[in-house]
Amino acid sequence: MTSPPSWQRVCHPAELREGECVEFTLAKGNPDQQTTDLRGFVFRRSGKVYGYLNRCPHLGIELNWMPGRFMDADNCFIQCATHGALFLPDSGECIAGPCQGDALIPLEVTETGDDILVRRPE
Ligand code: FES
Repeated sequence: MTSPPSWQRVCHPAELREGECVEFTLAKGNPDQQTTDLRGFVFRRSGKVYGYLNRCPHLGIELNWMPGRFMDADNCFIQCATHGALFLPDSGECIAGPCQGDALIPLEVTETGDDILVRRPE
């Protein structure tokens, strides 16, 4: 039996302003199950914090071409910098592009007074 992934601190809530993204490296879980570093990002939209693995379902590469930049020009959708796939911010579903119908892998997110915490889903 394996223990559930533990929560990992990303930043203080004040460091994640509306419309901005914060990137991080996920702590390794069970070394038998994960041998490479996984990157993730969180962002705040309408006050709520969302988090996803930084991995496009099309080719499995990172979404962004610049640190902290994940959104399209209008700040409406998450956009993959490689082929332009667009993802709904609240569900991660791809609505346009080569991986339409696929989705980003969501992270569990919780916000306390001092911390934004994430963990991989079990
Ligand atoms: S790698 Fe993201 S759309 Fe192709």
